This record gives sequence, structure tokens and C-alpha cells, in this order.
Amino acid sequence: MSEWTECLNFGVSLCKQTGDVILSAFQQQKEVTLKSSPADLVTETDQRVEKLLISAISSRFPQHRFIGEESVAAGERLQLTDSPTWIIDPIDGTVNFVHRFPFVAISIAFTVNKQLEFGIVYSCVDDKLFTAQRGRGAFLNGAPLHASGQEDVSRCVVVTEIGAERDDLALSTLTSNICRLLQLPVHGVRALGTAAVDMVQVAVGGADVYYHVGMHCWDIAAATIIVQEAGGVVMDTDGSVFDMMSRRVLAASSAIVARRIAEVIRAFPCRRDDEETAGSGV
Ligand code: IPD
Repeated sequence: MSEWTECLNFGVSLCKQTGDVILSAFQQQKEVTLKSSPADLVTETDQRVEKLLISAISSRFPQHRFIGEESVAAGERLQLTDSPTWIIDPIDGTVNFVHRFPFVAISIAFTVNKQLEFGIVYSCVDDKLFTAQRGRGAFLNGAPLHASGQEDVSRCVVVTEIGAERDDLALSTLTSNICRLLQLPVHGVRALGTAAVDMVQVAVGGADVYYHVGMHCWDIAAATIIVQEAGGVVMDTDGSVFDMMSRRVLAASSAIVARRIAEVIRAFPCRRDDEETAGSGV
């Protein structure tokens, strides 16, 4: 067993347990609080699930560190160090959760020396567990995953998100990107409302491209290693090397398709995740 397999297995069992917490709250009326914008929401369940996860992991692995969406929103410093670190989004797709749109996921990534060692995306409503460990492949409910390998951009299904940004530059960039993709043309553009579940569609082979500007590291860290282990590629939206803190990501079935998409899409400026954020409620 690899050094980190015990952590992966523990993370999987916690996802199943806290997935039940999310499911039991899913049909209930939720109390919603706004964070960075009128479309950036948090509920009591997001906070509760993050606390449950961090408390269980800290009891078992007291030396490990955490980057958690709701802890950072509450003012904790976001700093990725060389220590073993769990990067947690307790509910990816909080807007979906609030509206009962049935795509929500727990996303947990684990890094050591700033390198991704494993990722877990648990899509609770449809009980789909996506996992990957570095060098050991990617799996959906235990069955191996393979990206499509598509190299012809005009045959691609592209997944993306509009996100929580509502300023003019972000909106014009996001909408003009979609127009240019449709003019390429690609076969279709889709959005499920959860970055993690969107991105793993490239690992499944149901989509050939996923790109996103403005998301955070906890939205896509786990899905990054799942796509890579399924044979897909992950880079910056401008075609350069992927940087988990940059708030830009482009995943694809092949390097050829990724580079072609990178020529077409543009990014709007976003503050990096690891810029000083203490107390700012990201
Ligand atoms: C959000 C979702 C959404 C994406 C946003 C994310 P959250 O995460 O992944 O699909 O468009 O950029 O912030 O807030 O639901 O964890």
C-alpha cells in the first residue's frame, strides 16, 4: 500500500458519511448567506460538512494541514506548503444545492510537497465516486476511467461555467469565449453548476474539454488529478503550465485539442488564491 493510500481510503469513507448529511439536507429549505457576490452562496450545511471533515481528518492525522473553502471564507489564511495538505470543498455546487438542482459534490484533494497525490470527487445525488491516485489511474465507483483522446476540436463537447462574477469585463469575456467556441464550431457547450463534476466529465470521456476562469483551488484540485490519471491533459487557459492557485484551468482529451482551445479563449483578471486573503471572505 502506498504511503498515502490510507489517507485516500479514509477520505473516501468520510465522503460517503458526509454525503449522507448533504443528501438529508438537500430537499429542506436552506438558510443562505452571500459571500463575495450575490451568486456566491454558503449554507449551514457547507460549513457543517467542512467542520466534520476537518475534525475527523485532524483526529486521525494530527500533523496534516487544510485548505477549506469555508475556513478561508471565514478569514483563515490560504497557504499551500510542502506539508501534507487536504484541499476541501464541502459542497461544490452550492447554488445547485440551494435550488435542488441535482449536481453537488464533495471535492477533496491531497498534496504533499505541493504535488497532488490523490483526488476524490463524490457526486452525492447520483452516488458517483470519482477517485485517482498519482500513478495509479482514475476510477468511477471502482471502474477505470479514460479520457476520450479526441484530437479534432470540431468534434468536441466543451464544459465550462459562468461562475459567480457579474462585472462587465468578466461577463463579456465569458460570453465571447462561448461565442467563439460555438463558431469553431464545437459540437456543444455544457455547464452542470459544479466545477468538480464538470471537470471529471473529461476523465469519463463524456466531454472532451473543460475550462474555467474565476474558480478556486478547492473547486478543481481533486478533478485535476482525476483527469490527468485518466489520460487527459490539464493546463492554464493560455496554454502555459497549470498553476492550481491561478484561478484558471483548461482540461482536455488531448494536448492538440487543449492548445487549439487555448488559442480561442481569453481570461479576465482574478486575484490569485494564494494572495493575502486573511479576513477578506473570499
Ligand atoms: C462554485 C461552483 C461553480 C463555479 C464557481 C465555483 P461552490 O463552487 O463550482 O460551478 O462556477 O466558480 O466557485 O461555491 O459551489 O463551492
